[in-house]
Amino acid sequence: MELLFLVLLSPLTVKAAADGEKEWCYQSQKCALPACAEPRAWKTVNEECGKKYQSPINIVTNKVEYKGDLKPFIFEEYDTTQKSSPWTIENNGHTVKVSLSGSAKIGAGGLQNKYKAMEFHFHWGSNLTEGYSPGSEHSIDGERYAMELHIVHIKESFSTTTEAVKDEEGLAVLGFFINIGAENENYASLIKKLNEIVSKGNKTTMEPLRLDSLIPDEENLKSYYRYRGSLTTPNCNEAVIWTIFKAPITLSESQVKNFCELYFNEHNTLQMTDNFRPVQPLNDRIVYNSDVSVIQAPAKAVLGIPTFIYLMILLFQ
Ligand SMILES: *[C@@H]1O[C@H](CO)[C@@H](O)[C@H](O)[C@H]1NC(C)=O
Ligand SMILES: *[C@@H]1O[C@H](CO)[C@@H](O)[C@H](O)[C@H]1NC(C)=O
Ligand SMILES: [Zn+2]
Repeated sequence: MELLFLVLLSPLTVKAAADGEKEWCYQSQKCALPACAEPRAWKTVNEECGKKYQSPINIVTNKVEYKGDLKPFIFEEYDTTQKSSPWTIENNGHTVKVSLSGSAKIGAGGLQNKYKAMEFHFHWGSNLTEGYSPGSEHSIDGERYAMELHIVHIKESFSTTTEAVKDEEGLAVLGFFINIGAENENYASLIKKLNEIVSKGNKTTMEPLRLDSLIPDEENLKSYYRYRGSLTTPNCNEAVIWTIFKAPITLSESQVKNFCELYFNEHNTLQMTDNFRPVQPLNDRIVYNSDVSVIQAPAKAVLGIPTFIYLMILLFQ
């Protein structure tokens, strides 16, 4: 009887999921929300999530290529507090998002245009009985960091992200890894606000901070990786010029764990943890490096000598 019931029910369930609300979720929400689309099913929410140039990726450091035009960035108004408008900080059910006015901008850094900062948000892992399970989206040689900060910029000529995603170079996202270490005073006021946005849909304001106080010192931002990819949440638009900085931000263990005290839902039944998308195939993309690799250069020189001798032998035999 139960079996018959299941058989009768299942085509309906499948149909409901197929053309139902199409809510997307992270793997960590799948048990509590069996009908939601977890990362492998995001392409059912939006086709673009199944395309070839998706993010995040794993960066294999011995395959990255040096590119000479990846010069340091020029940061504009990253060092002011934009006192005119307070920041809005919200729990949108997927992350903690801080909306910005767009007056902070980035230029140079191998970009063809200036891009203005629209928002920043975080991805994190989970607090385990023994330690912390990392939750960055990008990884370096297979290794993930505790958290990742994304500062989302759009091309200066656009006014909204909706417009920018239609341009294949519409967005420039700066990605920063976050390590566990010493307490970071500069994050104190932001982390304190998390108490007020525990549930999905909660929103509050905070005193604006200097964006440059949230990231490593400018002299440590000359080293980065660059590749072309997508937004890491649906609709996964392939419109992003990604920059992943090598120097991480440091937060203390308890600061990092404060993020895990948020909830994915309104009823505070599911803690917001592991809100990262798994890495996607690189396919035929190249990841560029702003630094000349310390390993590649001597290796080429060593290779050069036997090649030279070989050519000489060919020439004179
Ligand atoms: C994290 O884990 C530690 C011990 O493993 C526990 O004492 C602490 O309360 C946990 N914190 C959160 C935010 O769940
Ligand atoms: C946060 O959201 C919950 C659920 O919608 C609501 O009950 C609560 O009042 C909100 N809290 C604040 C501080 O807005
Ligand atoms: Zn992100």
